[in-house]
Amino acid sequence: MPLRIAVVASGRGSNLQAILDAIAAGTLDAEVVGVWSDRRDAFALERARSAGVPAHPVRPRDYADRAAHDLALFGAIDAAAPDLIVCAGYMRLIGAAAVEARPGRMINIHPSLLPAFKGLHTHQQALDAGVTEHGASVHVVTADLDAGPVLAQARVPVLPGDTAEALAARVLAREHPLLLETLRWIADGRLVLQGSRVQVNGRPLTAPLQLAANQRFA
Ligand code: GAR
Repeated sequence: MPLRIAVVASGRGSNLQAILDAIAAGTLDAEVVGVWSDRRDAFALERARSAGVPAHPVRPRDYADRAAHDLALFGAIDAAAPDLIVCAGYMRLIGAAAVEARPGRMINIHPSLLPAFKGLHTHQQALDAGVTEHGASVHVVTADLDAGPVLAQARVPVLPGDTAEALAARVLAREHPLLLETLRWIADGRLVLQGSRVQVNGRPLTAPLQLAANQRFA
């Protein structure tokens, strides 16, 4: 049975596109059951429609508060019966109640080597900190922002003269294969999320999987 994925995205949707393309190419055994966004103009919704996937804007301004918006958004997602909710550039905080009601069923891709550089402007944070290595992480979503167990990471060098834009582009090129490989491992049962605990090949995951140059986990 293909893994049923719900995608939540706020903007461009290049990670969503990578998922849709991999499914179409037969390299990911999954189905995107819907794409949800807090922004009606998110290009991710356009990408979903082009792929024949249901696209659902759920705008915060139509709800009284965060909890009410979360309830509507995640209630609608639940109705599509996904196995996994993938936050792919979803830029709103998700309230603890929504997260805790779905233990181990939500993952997020974040553009840094967590636990370094949580939150926003991660590439500028990396440049300001003077690190020589940066990257992206896929982690389990928990109530604490960007702090759930890290499943997998991809690393890139920070090069002399890098701007935040140049670094972002280098990271993004590896985000797509990182997310896809993580989804493959979840889809075929090599990675199992149980609440905030994670098993890899039947054993507790003790350190994040690392994406190798061949775009597979080392
Ligand atoms: C990606 O770089 C993703 O890691 C980041 O937003 C971008 C979305 O790009 N996510 C976060 O910063 C979450 N805090 P995309 O819309 O082209 O997939």
